[in-house]
Amino acid sequence: MNDMVRGLFITLEGGEGAGKSTNLAYLRQALESAGIPLRLTREPGGTPLGERIRELLLDPEFTGMDADAELLLMFAARAQHLQQVIRPALEEGVWVLCDRFTDATYAYQGGGRGIDSGRIEALEDWVQQGFQPDITILFDLSVETGLERAGKRGALDRFEREQKNFFEQVRAAYLARAAAAPQRFRIIDADRELGVVQQQLDTVIEELVSRYRPS
Ligand SMILES: Nc1ncnc2c1ncn2[C@@H]1O[C@H](COP(=O)(O)OP(=O)(O)O)[C@@H](O)[C@H]1O
Ligand SMILES: [Mg+2]
Repeated sequence: MNDMVRGLFITLEGGEGAGKSTNLAYLRQALESAGIPLRLTREPGGTPLGERIRELLLDPEFTGMDADAELLLMFAARAQHLQQVIRPALEEGVWVLCDRFTDATYAYQGGGRGIDSGRIEALEDWVQQGFQPDITILFDLSVETGLERAGKRGALDRFEREQKNFFEQVRAAYLARAAAAPQRFRIIDADRELGVVQQQLDTVIEELVSRYRPS
């Protein structure tokens, strides 16, 4: 057991309608074909407790949710997710592909809601104790395109009902995160048609597959 290679933790990030969920399936197919053991999950959510917290976070009924309450619920779900799903999978050598993680907290609660990033860092240290994704794929696109796509998808959740300026702040915060950690981030131009987005993903997939070493 001790010489088992730890799995890679890969996160997908980006605003509404960026194509994260669509391309999660594409990435899954490519990585599984290469023989990589994979676990797909998402945030907020990923555990029974986390999915219940997700329902609270996305429910448009809670329009007046306090920003700190929102932030703490995100990290409550994350703590459970790390303990119950992410860490055990990685320790077994399973790769974890996660639709959103802590960069989304910096983007939405930090950029969008304006919470000081120092407070987010404090919670990140508490809950993650230095744990970070190995690779983060950022689907970057204009706010207009993203909202148009999300609008076609169906009823808007509590975040999707925010104003355009909120999403501009989210996008800027994501890009600042990527600029601060260029070794971890792979930025995809998600404004393009799906085939072109997936061509860009193919480069990332090649890199990921080359990092896979069966134990
Ligand atoms: N590159 C693309 N071009 C056009 N439509 C897209 C593209 N990528 C995704 N979509 C569509 O946009 C909508 C939102 O995509 P989705 O994957 O749900 O985004 P996210 O999970 O990032 O919010 C879906 O209806 C999807 O089919
Ligand atoms: Mg999605």
